[in-house]
Amino acid sequence: MIKKVILPVAGLGTRFLPATKSIPKEMLTVVDKPLIQYIVEEAAEAGITEIILVTHSSKSAIENHFDKNYELEIELEARGKQDRLALIDNILPKGVSVISVRQPEALGLGHAILCAKSVLNDNEPFAVMLPDVLMHHAQKGCLAQMVASFSDHGHSMVALEEVADADVEKYGIAAIKEGEQGLEVTALVEKPSVAEAPSNLSVVGRYIFTPKLMSLLEDTQPGAGGEIQLTDAMDELLKTEKMFGFEFKNGQSYDCGDKLGYLKANVEYALRDAKLAGDFKAYLARLDNTKI
Ligand code: G1P
Repeated sequence: MIKKVILPVAGLGTRFLPATKSIPKEMLTVVDKPLIQYIVEEAAEAGITEIILVTHSSKSAIENHFDKNYELEIELEARGKQDRLALIDNILPKGVSVISVRQPEALGLGHAILCAKSVLNDNEPFAVMLPDVLMHHAQKGCLAQMVASFSDHGHSMVALEEVADADVEKYGIAAIKEGEQGLEVTALVEKPSVAEAPSNLSVVGRYIFTPKLMSLLEDTQPGAGGEIQLTDAMDELLKTEKMFGFEFKNGQSYDCGDKLGYLKANVEYALRDAKLAGDFKAYLARLDNTKI
């Protein structure tokens, strides 16, 4: 039912300067793959067939990553490097296509999502994934679990996760109640102070929306940070429609928009990598902090 996902990638990634001066932050690697590739793989696993990048003129490396590189392929073929060829063969999963729309001005996440409006059909529900957030699950990806749940009830959904008091002001925060069909969202606030926050449940970068969200975004005024906030349009949606909170259980999220979160992702994904894990674990065990 959900075939399209919007990936907002127009942000300039100033938190990671100087690394992101000429490289999109979505192209930063976790072990051996850029962040955006993990996101596209999670989307494909959820049955998504159309990736809509909302992008910026400085971010063409992302589109190039999902395009063919014939020169590289011919070179690897000629050198008999079939193993390396296999690594770039399936970067864009079969049956999935990527299209781009531009966000001409950095007016906020809500505005970025609205830029993709013309690519959606009028009555089409859609997903949004924030490429800063990696979600690891040994069995079933976060978006796949959300899509399965959406096909049962047909209401908008947002992935939620508990954060410490000190981190509440970095995220969208949800008020919830236990409904008959699960966790119902009753209000959403973007980056509140701890005193204003209705809970410790933060929005973690995976969403499914009914079409109504797009029309609400058209009327959403600048909010926190002077930006048009997706969270504000979602809060408005709650006045007319239900929205479910999705708790990502037995998995792990990584906020790679934050340096510490990004480092944790690299360490933990390396520890899960069959080829690296043994040596890397041994190295960590031997690591002598007193010499650093
Ligand atoms: C965005 C959203 C916020 C959400 C966060 C998740 O904020 O606006 O609601 O909790 O992503 O990472 P940003 O990180 O772009 O400031």
